[in-house]
Order: sequence, then C-alpha cells, then structure tokens
Amino acid sequence: MSSGQLKINWAKSHMPILKTIEDSFLSEKPFSGLKVGITLHLEAKTAYLAQVFKSGGAEVAICGSNPLSTQDDVRQSLKDEGIYVYGHWGVNPEEFKNSLNRVLDHQPHLIIDDGGDLTFLLHRERESLLVNVLGSCEETTTGIRRIKALENNRELRIPVIAVNDALCKHLFDNRYGTGQSSWDGILRTTNINIAGKKVVVVGYGWVGKGIALRGKGLGAKVIVTEIDCVKALEAYMDGFEVLSMSEAARIGDIFITATGNINVIDRNHFEVMKDNAILCNAGHFDVEINMVSLKEISKERKEVRKNITQYILKNGQRINVLGEGRLVNLACADGHPIEIMDLSFAIQSLSALYLLRNSSNLEKILHPVPEEIDNKVASLALKTMNIQIDTLSEEQIEYLKKA
Ligand code: ADE
Repeated sequence: MSSGQLKINWAKSHMPILKTIEDSFLSEKPFSGLKVGITLHLEAKTAYLAQVFKSGGAEVAICGSNPLSTQDDVRQSLKDEGIYVYGHWGVNPEEFKNSLNRVLDHQPHLIIDDGGDLTFLLHRERESLLVNVLGSCEETTTGIRRIKALENNRELRIPVIAVNDALCKHLFDNRYGTGQSSWDGILRTTNINIAGKKVVVVGYGWVGKGIALRGKGLGAKVIVTEIDCVKALEAYMDGFEVLSMSEAARIGDIFITATGNINVIDRNHFEVMKDNAILCNAGHFDVEINMVSLKEISKERKEVRKNITQYILKNGQRINVLGEGRLVNLACADGHPIEIMDLSFAIQSLSALYLLRNSSNLEKILHPVPEEIDNKVASLALKTMNIQIDTLSEEQIEYLKKA
C-alpha cells in the first residue's frame, strides 16, 4: 500500500463521526450529479472528506489552500481513486492560483473553502460560473472576515455558511486543534526543550488561547500580547503575563503569531530580540511576521535545519523562522489532530448538505451553521466516545419556564 493510502486509512480509522456521515451519504447519494470544488489543506484528513463527498455521489475537484500544506503522497492516492486533484507541495503563487482555477474549471455546484481564496476567485474573475453555485462553506476565521467584507461591499452573490463559527468547530479546532498542532510543528522542527522558555503568544483569540494553554502544559513561561482590552484581561485572569509587543520582543525565546493581521512582528521588534529567537506563525496567511523587513535588515540567510531559516542581522544577531512564516502546524507537521478534524469536517459535510437542500431559500449572505448541525455533531462525538449525558426532567423543564 502507498504511504498516502496508509496515511488516509489511519486518519479514517480515527474519524468515526465522518464515517457515520459517509455511511448515510453512501445509501442516500445526496450529491449525485453534482460537483464539489474544494480548497483545503490537502493532507490525510482532508483526503477522507473528499472521499466522503465522492461516496455521496459527487464529482470532486480539490486543491491545497496553502503553498506548504499539500502532502504529495496523499495527493497521489486521491488522484488514483478518481478524485481530481490540482497543485502540489511548494507551489509558487502562479501555480497556486492556477490550481484554484483548475478546480473552478469543473464548474462546481458547491464550494468548500479555507481562507476564502476559491470564493474570491469565483466572484472576482470567474463570475460566469456563479449561476451554477448553490453556495460555499468557509472553514476559517480569516476566510469569514474576508467574505464578510465581500458581503459589506454588496459583492457576495452566493450564500456562505460560516463553518468556522459553529461551536463544534472553533471551540475545538481553533483552540485545542491549533493548540496541539502548532506545538507539534515547533517540536518536530526544532527538537528543543520548551519547559522554562519564554513563549510569546501574539493574539488571544481561540487559536492564541489554545497555544498559550498547551505551552503552559509544556512548562513554558507564557506571555500574551493583545490589542483588545477584554482579551488581554482574559489572558491575565487565565494566569498569563500580558505585555506590549515591544516589551515582549526583548525577552521572548519563542514567538507564535495568531492574530490574522499583518506585521504583528515587525522591524522594531526584530531589532531588539534575543540572539537565536525562534519565530513562527499559526494564522492563515504568511503576513503576520514581516518577512520583507526581516530580509531587508539581514545580511545573510541560511537553512539551518529542515524548515528552519536563520536570518543573520547586520549586527550578527540570529533570528530563526519556522516554515517560512506559513502555518506552522501544516508547513512543519500534519495539521490538527485527527479527532479534531473529524468534528470540523463533520460540520463541513453536513453544512454542504444543508446548502444543497436549502440554497434557494437562503439569502446571499453569510449564514451561521444551524444549531441542529452543531448538536448532531456533538452528540455523535459523545456517542463515539461512549460518554452519556443527562436530560432535563419534566419538573426541571417547567421550572426553567418560570419567571
Ligand atoms: N487539516 C486539514 N485542514 C486543516 C486546517 N484548517 N487546520 C489544521 N489542520 C488541517
């Protein structure tokens, strides 16, 4: 069996929720005659999601959603099974765009997007295809921010389901998924001890919270930086030191960005860092560490270990960047833990089914994932883990209705 197939089988054996959904898709074939266009991080768990749509009767075309997140052995296995796959690990910007266009060439009825690139390309350059499209499901915080901007500009012409905002997505994927997988990427890549290190987590949204929590578990002294006063207070109450970035820059050993914004680590920060500091990013785009400026102030750069680029500043100070400043959990590891993606992709597949059944009644705006889908996925997850919960008695139901 090929390495890609082994990886997919291993993922599949830990994704019981998606397996339950696949079984129902296999018997009902709800996507028969339809095409699903996907851009997601193309690794083993994603491959299984693509297979699930195929099991539901769809023609599936897929490409990666980040230049460094496609695993070539997985891509090959999917191709061998009759799924249309475009792009490869390490695509350049032109190849990346080309792979998105190749997916759109299939004239998909449903879009599964991660970061908004497919939905944007569809609206900005491939508008003639919009008539076919029932809607799109968006996986990430960044994608939702971008699509909201499209909606605010009155440009959005399809209904979009905000998969990221489902409770069974962001509470687990963004927080515990990124919390574990970012450290997985850092540990695999650097092989350094974390206990006692000063770790600066830039941004305390769901992703930052997970990274800070897991960093604390590894024994790090975690420092949080924020621009939002409530989140800063929350980080403080959660037991973390809160500093401004200019203060944190001077004392951190490891920096992890998780803001979704540009240049949150900038030239003035690089210049005051300790020698041999390690920098990485957990946000969707590679914009959070100002790489242009880092290159400008460096006299030399070299690969010091796989996935670690060391920049040597003119004063001799060394700064190490993991995975080119792209998503460290995917560029330097295998993405989120399998069981976490089981939840996220269960939400994705049921949201796509919801779009299929309700598209004509949905306004061309961003929509929340229906509560029933969240509850269904949570109860399936509990069932697969053999966890029982209680139900309200009639007396309790009546009590809750009282003023
Ligand atoms: N694997 C597939 N999609 C992923 C995502 N959005 N984040 C982390 N790991 C993933």
